[in-house]
Amino acid sequence: MAEESNGIDTTRPSVSRVYDFLLGGKDNFAIDRQVAQMVLKIAPDAPDAAFANRGFLRRVIHHLTAEAGVRQFLDIGSGLPTQGNVHEVAQAVDPEARVVYVDHDPIVLAHGRALLATNDTTTVIEADIRDPRSILDHPDTKRLIDFSRPVGLLLFSILHHINDDEDPEGLAAQFRDVLAPGSFMAISHFQNPGDAHPEAAAHAANAEILFNENLGTGRWRTKEEILAYFGDMEVLEPGLVPLAEWRAEPDAYIFSGITYHTYVGGLARKA
Ligand SMILES: C[S@@+](CC[C@H](N)C(=O)[O-])C[C@H]1O[C@@H](n2cnc3c(N)ncnc32)[C@H](O)[C@@H]1O
Repeated sequence: MAEESNGIDTTRPSVSRVYDFLLGGKDNFAIDRQVAQMVLKIAPDAPDAAFANRGFLRRVIHHLTAEAGVRQFLDIGSGLPTQGNVHEVAQAVDPEARVVYVDHDPIVLAHGRALLATNDTTTVIEADIRDPRSILDHPDTKRLIDFSRPVGLLLFSILHHINDDEDPEGLAAQFRDVLAPGSFMAISHFQNPGDAHPEAAAHAANAEILFNENLGTGRWRTKEEILAYFGDMEVLEPGLVPLAEWRAEPDAYIFSGITYHTYVGGLARKA
């Protein structure tokens, strides 16, 4: 049967499951692994890139909880549970930290619910970033997130899955607008580095075709396009940079494959 009763379609590849495979996870099917193999052919360092994204996420959450005092997170496009989930990093600093995970892929809800069955301060909801009100007005969001206080809005590797005609800039703005002063917004995103790195730019163009043919999404945007998602928030040091360069730990493993300049991240603060 193609579609299981829980809405999980095993005949079509899904972004969250391909990504899960690249991270060494087990929540993926043959069709996802086929797409992942195509990705690996043009980007053998794709797993390094995925891990660099998770490392960026971990450093951002640790900074926000341990140093900036943020205690509530809205993580949109959260993906399948893996090692170092947002609630684990945040709750290691403060067990009361609250996390709302959001994803439109039903498999995320299925696995997230199992993981979070006994965690009162963390939940996962099935919703689509293209419908911001369905996220902001969701009863679980209202229960766990107090928008009159600082929030960590997490958009890790989701906006590049929003096509240009779906207005990613407008969507980012709608979420920014509800944040209280002192809130933060973190973004990781595929980048086309242009003339600064021609080989990486050519790879980005190829990867964009491969993703769109197989997954229906995937945009490698320019640095300026990605920075626009932060609006007038202050982008903190070191700016929007390759993931491994964002406040790297001294002994961190730094990979240097073709994806290095095609995957960037940044953190901004609302004044
Ligand atoms: C590459 S994964 C990133 C997972 C995690 N945020 C990370 O950075 O490690 C992208 C996730 O975004 C989700 N996603 C894609 N489009 C979405 C949409 N329109 N609304 C909600 N989630 C979406 C996918 O299902 C997938 O789980």
